[in-house]
Amino acid sequence: MAVIAGDGIGLEVVPAAIECLDRIASVHGLSLRWNHLDWGSDHFRAHGRMLPVDGLETLAKHDAIFLGAVGVPDIPDVETLWGLLIPIRRTFDQYVNLRPVKTLPGVRSPLADDRPIDLVIVRENTEGEYSEVGGRSHRGQPHELAVQEALFTRPGITRVARFAAALAAQRRGGLTSATKSNGIVHTMPFWDEVVRSVVASSPEVELRSELIDALAASLVLRPWDYDVIVASNLFGDILSDLAGAVTGSIGSAPSANLNPERVHPSMFEPVHGSAPDIAGKGVANPVGQLWSGALMLSHLGHAQAAAHLIAAFESALADGVRTRDLGGSDGTADVTRAVLERIDRLA
Ligand code: NAI
Ligand code: MG
Repeated sequence: MAVIAGDGIGLEVVPAAIECLDRIASVHGLSLRWNHLDWGSDHFRAHGRMLPVDGLETLAKHDAIFLGAVGVPDIPDVETLWGLLIPIRRTFDQYVNLRPVKTLPGVRSPLADDRPIDLVIVRENTEGEYSEVGGRSHRGQPHELAVQEALFTRPGITRVARFAAALAAQRRGGLTSATKSNGIVHTMPFWDEVVRSVVASSPEVELRSELIDALAASLVLRPWDYDVIVASNLFGDILSDLAGAVTGSIGSAPSANLNPERVHPSMFEPVHGSAPDIAGKGVANPVGQLWSGALMLSHLGHAQAAAHLIAAFESALADGVRTRDLGGSDGTADVTRAVLERIDRLA
């Protein structure tokens, strides 16, 4: 496994998660070998790039990539994210960004009604609004302008919709497609059309198309009604922070950047970023990173080990061990210790 802890709290939650993953591996007789790569903003400061020239080739040799987060206040995000995260997602054709959103035991939702939430966001991860097509002109002049094109392709929409429909079929059969075809008149009607035609071949899946603005409101009002949500790159990104917050904290939310065909390594990382506001204080919630580690185990075919890890952090949370973002007062190390203890106890 390639490990990029990256920046900020990535440097705190990644080691915590690896300690727990190593313990899980020893209980289940797995051998996890970690190749620690110190790529991130310090690498950028020293070498002018986030990844070494042969960085992507190095990553290609691994079974999976375990990432913390990148981004620091003094370097533009466009350098850090487009220098590392986006090239990895695109080079390795990780076109599904899978983001499970689930109520965790003992974690209170900011909503008054705390019915359990259990949904999955399937975000398109390689095209859409995050495109490099466009430009900026007349810099510094009063009529300065910027243009950015959103790119949607039939194969790109088809494959992500197919993945989401298959997932919905394995779950409760509900699939919601996030759209905005009333305002974005070219790409979004195309998205709707392709999603509809893909889902037509899965009669067991019930497709609902919802406008993104109304969907955002409804995710706050009745998140428990959703099963699988398929969304474009931008819409999926926004909805997953929102849904993460609705279940308690973005610090607990995991994500998998999947290359479903397994031609290339997939990448596992929490939804949150490098959280510079709390970095270095030992208070970061490691659950998002731990849960991402469980998604990685499961992708690598170790479903039992993954379930064991999830049970261990759920048990710690249920017993009230939690960080400040979840209303507790424990630090990263306290949570890690509690999870390690429960891995042994539940073995
Ligand atoms: P953020 O997710 O880093 O932080 C948002 C808020 O949530 C902050 O108040 C933070 O303290 C809190 N938070 C996040 N994770 C937490 C955790 N594990 N435990 C406790 N509290 C937590 O998002 P923000 O502040 O917008 O971005 C910070 C930097 O991270 C930026 O440079 C951004 O570009 C980068 N970023 C990187 C990502 C990645 O590497 N995949 C994803 C999102 C942002
Ligand atoms: Mg995001």
